[in-house]
Amino acid sequence: MPVSADYSEKIPNNVDLHEDRRLQRALESWQPNFLSWWESMGPTLPTQDVYLRTAVNVGREGWAHFGHVAMKDYRWGIFLAERDGDRRIGFGAHKGEPAWQKVPGEYRAELQRLIVIQGDTEPASVEQQRNLGATAPSLYDLRNLFQVNVEEGRHLWAMVYLLHAFFGREGREEAEELLHRNSGSDESPRILGAFNEETPDWLSFFMFTYFTDRDGKYQLGTLKESGFDPLSRTCEFMLKEEAHHMMVGTTGIDRVVERTAQLMIEHDTDDVAALGAIPLDVVQKYLNFHYSVSLDLFGSETSSNVANYYTAGLKGRWMEGRRKDDHLLTGDSIMVDALVDGEIGQTEVAALVGLNTDLRREYVSDCQSGVNRWNRILADAGLPQRLYLPSVAFNRKVGAFAGIEATPRGERLTAEEWEARKDAWLPTEVDKAHVRSLMRPVHERGKIASWIAPPRNGINGKPFDYEYVRLG
Ligand SMILES: [Fe+2]
Ligand SMILES: [Fe+2]
Repeated sequence: MPVSADYSEKIPNNVDLHEDRRLQRALESWQPNFLSWWESMGPTLPTQDVYLRTAVNVGREGWAHFGHVAMKDYRWGIFLAERDGDRRIGFGAHKGEPAWQKVPGEYRAELQRLIVIQGDTEPASVEQQRNLGATAPSLYDLRNLFQVNVEEGRHLWAMVYLLHAFFGREGREEAEELLHRNSGSDESPRILGAFNEETPDWLSFFMFTYFTDRDGKYQLGTLKESGFDPLSRTCEFMLKEEAHHMMVGTTGIDRVVERTAQLMIEHDTDDVAALGAIPLDVVQKYLNFHYSVSLDLFGSETSSNVANYYTAGLKGRWMEGRRKDDHLLTGDSIMVDALVDGEIGQTEVAALVGLNTDLRREYVSDCQSGVNRWNRILADAGLPQRLYLPSVAFNRKVGAFAGIEATPRGERLTAEEWEARKDAWLPTEVDKAHVRSLMRPVHERGKIASWIAPPRNGINGKPFDYEYVRLG
């Protein structure tokens, strides 16, 4: 298995695609459909070229190449992490058996479903973000948006490769459907609710890449553990690319908070809206919204499907290899969020059915690290205000708390109390209109919008005022 990508092929790949003519032809006939999807549903801002990284190698060192490329000529390709010939399944009923190189017939439907659901989110986010280029706060940010977009496009390729290579005609049909469904479409929307909302402004974009893309990171982490080796290796390499997406979200919010804090100190006021920035309480409201809808993406606290996926060896836990237990979990239990006598609490269930909760818990503590970071920025500025993650019961539409209302601090509310008070916790039309009013494009080298601080570092060692994007 080659480590470096073959770019002489129509579809760059490190899976020896030329050795399987049928598969190659099938993917080459999907390729123009992908490109016309990108043209019609991808970024709307015309550009000449963008300083993008392209994967050239999946090894530890120097896996990416940077250079200016016209986005439509981006070399989307198929890259799987290196194969470990001795890899064994790490959990469930098949623990210790050699990892599968082909789809086990008994799990075919489940595996296909997992791949389709993951695959559906990748192009969805490109669609959600397609208009953001027109209001980018700097060329640096514009470039990062486009980098995330082309890589989400590549992640679609990653899933489509699996569908074509391992799932026959049904897989090919599913691959077509991935281009047919569109974010927000009435007739054929994307599968998961959060992926049908438009990303209307850059604060939403940073919150999305921090909170919602991070859900994706955790889902990929569970699929990386899969006994189905091609899926595992695909996800391993996708996670490498995801690190940049996480960085965009984390440092994006850093820079919003930094700018807001700076103006709060300079003008001795909390109300920085008139100064062309985003007030801290609006940042908190956006955080509340994106965090709560992202928690919903993990599904119900208990799930027998997920228990079956685990036992079957299809989907593991986050960092399965580092867990100090039997990796079967048949005798274990876990506390999960629940309504207990009508109160927000927890209840004990079998560990296997509580695996969604296990994953969500890992995610929550990761999210907390971002909040800690932003609070350090506030503290360093000399401000007493702090951001926080709202209660898991706040604004939930899925799971144990879907039927109740609660404050961000986790106190139960009646429906009437919620209606009366929710504007204090979720972005209002006024808040959104203010944020939108700040979204004026800054497409000049080295310049930046009023509402955000410049980044500490550029991309690939380049300075902030580098010509990251040449507009069309
Ligand atoms: Fe992705
Ligand atoms: Fe991503």
